[in-house]
Amino acid sequence: MLPGKPYLFPAKEAFSPVKVVLSPAFNDCAGKKRRVNCGIAEDSTYTDTTDITYSSDAKYINTGVNRNLPESSIPDRLQRLCSNLRSFPNGSRNCYNLSVISKGTKYLLRAYFLYGDYDNLNKPPQFDIYIGVNLWMNVKDVTQPFVRELMLMAKMNYLSICLVNTGQGTPFISAIELRPLHDAMYLPVNETYSLMRWDQYDLGRIADGGDVRYPDDPFDMRWKFIENETWSFINTSNKVTNPTAAFQPPSVVMMTAIKPVNDSDDLYYTWQVDRDPSFQLHVYMHFAEIELLDSNATREFTIYCGNYSCNGGKPFRPKYLVTTTIQIPQPLTGQIEYTCSFKRTPNSNHPPILNAIEVFAIRHYNATPTRDQDVEAILDIKSAYQVKGKWMGDPCVPKNYSWDGLTCDYPLKDAPTILSMNLSSTGLNGEIAASFANLKYIRSLDLSRNNLTGPIPNFLGDLPSLSLLNLSGNQLNGLVPSNLLEKSKKGSLKLSIDNNPNLIGSVNDVKKGRKIIAPVLASVISTLVLLTIVGFVHRKFTQRRQRASIVKTKSGSMLYEHRRFTYAQVVSMTNNFERSIGKGGFGTVYHGQMTNNTQVAVKMLYLRSIKAPCQGSNEFENEVQLLMRVHHRNLVSFIGYCQEDGNMALIYEYMAQGNLGSHLSVTDKYSNALSWDRRLRIALDVAQGLEYLHDDCKPAIIHRDVKTANILLNERLEAKIGDFGLSRVFNDEFTHVSTAVKGTFGYLDPEYCNSNNLTEKSDVYSFGVVLLQLITGKSAIVRITNSEQISLIDWAIPMVVGGDIRDVIDPKFEGNYDIKSFQKVAEIARACTSPKSIDRPHMRDVVVELKEYIGNEKALESESVPENGGCMNSGPVQTTSEILSSLSAR
Ligand SMILES: *[C@@H]1O[C@H](CO)[C@@H](O)[C@H](O)[C@H]1NC(C)=O
Ligand SMILES: *[C@@H]1O[C@H](CO)[C@@H](O)[C@H](O)[C@H]1NC(C)=O
Repeated sequence: MLPGKPYLFPAKEAFSPVKVVLSPAFNDCAGKKRRVNCGIAEDSTYTDTTDITYSSDAKYINTGVNRNLPESSIPDRLQRLCSNLRSFPNGSRNCYNLSVISKGTKYLLRAYFLYGDYDNLNKPPQFDIYIGVNLWMNVKDVTQPFVRELMLMAKMNYLSICLVNTGQGTPFISAIELRPLHDAMYLPVNETYSLMRWDQYDLGRIADGGDVRYPDDPFDMRWKFIENETWSFINTSNKVTNPTAAFQPPSVVMMTAIKPVNDSDDLYYTWQVDRDPSFQLHVYMHFAEIELLDSNATREFTIYCGNYSCNGGKPFRPKYLVTTTIQIPQPLTGQIEYTCSFKRTPNSNHPPILNAIEVFAIRHYNATPTRDQDVEAILDIKSAYQVKGKWMGDPCVPKNYSWDGLTCDYPLKDAPTILSMNLSSTGLNGEIAASFANLKYIRSLDLSRNNLTGPIPNFLGDLPSLSLLNLSGNQLNGLVPSNLLEKSKKGSLKLSIDNNPNLIGSVNDVKKGRKIIAPVLASVISTLVLLTIVGFVHRKFTQRRQRASIVKTKSGSMLYEHRRFTYAQVVSMTNNFERSIGKGGFGTVYHGQMTNNTQVAVKMLYLRSIKAPCQGSNEFENEVQLLMRVHHRNLVSFIGYCQEDGNMALIYEYMAQGNLGSHLSVTDKYSNALSWDRRLRIALDVAQGLEYLHDDCKPAIIHRDVKTANILLNERLEAKIGDFGLSRVFNDEFTHVSTAVKGTFGYLDPEYCNSNNLTEKSDVYSFGVVLLQLITGKSAIVRITNSEQISLIDWAIPMVVGGDIRDVIDPKFEGNYDIKSFQKVAEIARACTSPKSIDRPHMRDVVVELKEYIGNEKALESESVPENGGCMNSGPVQTTSEILSSLSAR
């Protein structure tokens, strides 16, 4: 277990890679086992009688107060779980942000509420719970434990659970449990459809113990018992097996069943939905034969639920000691009482049986959440400026609860977008965050009267709809970008920048622009002369400005150092792991900010993925130290690492524009598509990074997992390769498993797959796939029909070689291209993906080709001298990485 990060567990059981179980901060006032004091146990965990570990919820919410229940009010079985709660006296909506989940994964979410008169008001409240933007349920009757379950599929890499005050008392929550399920479980669950548990019964069990649950049920589902005078019970001592992963009633549940008291009668299972006949219900019935029947004996029956006949109308025979699950063909609705009946067929000489049943109410997700990119941008802004309080849940939805300072547009068909943002006088500190660039629909941005520093970024002038920008009353410096001044001159933008004492240029001296720029340029040029001596790059003017300011502030610093951080520093720089920005086979990546405001990406490693985690772990440290010497402008820089009490983290330079894969898959109506020139540039960037790993590092580093998800883009859309060298730190086995599971299959060198002989040429192969993706805009696996997928290579290469390349070119270019250019790159891609490694070029050849080719392209400004550092065999070297230099300036 990772101390301090208790929600990530190495799987004890093969089925559950990550188990997330939360409960409000646990206060053990009895002080028996733990040394904690009352009321401070934010990071504490406890393990209940079933060996499930619960941890504090403090990481996932920063509002609400922790309250204890009087001991007498808690039922025995929920003693620990419900002994305290988090209540929300302030704010109409308070949200948990569970950031430890993966988009597209199914989860079982369970919430507990037990009032216990914790506030001595003897007034149990009623309130609403939302999952994201959709109402889950109204919570009431909380004097008894109120426990509800939902099977859902995560739409994002986080899940917000919001408690909404409906004016009937203070919302509270006792505990939350969240567990990943298998994909094949609860088939109808998808992005627009979740299942709320109505009933779940282990039929035929005698009421001796409590519910059947963990460890019998690996997902800790609670199988209750139920009795009825028309049933009699049968059981077996033989285990019942489960042939599929789809449904997993535990064997003990399946080992008992009901049958009619009278063998000749039919069997009925009836239940009521007293509250709401509009509920749509879904039913799963689980059967297994548990009596060994003579060879001439048969148990056969038909199954009806409501008006539907199940099992396709065919008679059903349970299999001996094997579970079969039958679902109803369509949801039941419109009544307050339903019956499933099981009727013996004339062929049958045994009565019908039923071993277990589950009933769910269907929840549709109707509300559309705010446009993804807007959400990501604003979460980033929230964390950059540490906005707390009411910024919780979805920024625009539900309408009445949109975030303070925001107004949103609610188009009929599309996702809501952010229209205006007013953060005037809200105490913002630091630079203007890069994420503002992603608010494509914003019209009005008021950041006046804060403490914003640094330059006004160019991208503000590129926001297409921006018509009001108020930056007055800050500490901004540098030049006002010309695109903003021009827009203001043209009258399309109302720009206020007054009261920024260090800002050069104002709305009134647009015409004087040249004069202002001249002296700056002069000093830039002299700086650049210096830079050139150490092998720097000439850049186009705007970039010169940025670089110059870096050099100015960080001159003379030692540019490279090995940095080891403490776990406490990691916690603080990630603001307690507030925002996860990615997830890979090795761990979760969090956004972080150093004390000097440098943004970083912090990768928390899963312990089990690391070689020899327990033996002092010098190996980890040595490898990391080696990796930290690898420096190239097309490789994501290592900044440092943390290794403390089994917490291991790698800290990297933050890449503001995310990974290449997500840029290529953009289908937004506002076209964010990368231009072809930019893609060529990215191809060269990646090629140069790989060339360096292969040729300049001794021993050579084979990346092993080149793919668009590992190619990261900075704010200028320059590409850098991430996750290189990790095979040195991680178990082979783990790397292997993770690629297989992750489906980066489309990138795998077939020769390596067959021979297991890894060479640089395997990277060349994967690089070829990336080139094809740049051409086609497709992922490495192409879906041809709903059920059929082939690799991008098999799809594209035949058309490149024998057919018409126009059939595979990314439709986002809309026919606007020079076909020769594509043919040239496709030719390189084809060579790189030759089945035999000996036929593939070296990366250095690819670099030469691309450079030669790009050099001829007028559209690209050349700046291709790499800023190289030394490698494995050289000692600490000077590098010019902006991140490292800004670090050492501290
Ligand atoms: C932003 O809010 C302040 C008051 O907090 C107000 O004075 C200002 O006019 C608002 N800005 C815009 C653009 O509406
Ligand atoms: C702005 O920042 C400066 C320096 O950090 C600080 O002294 C000042 O109080 C801040 N002003 C506001 C309004 O927050």
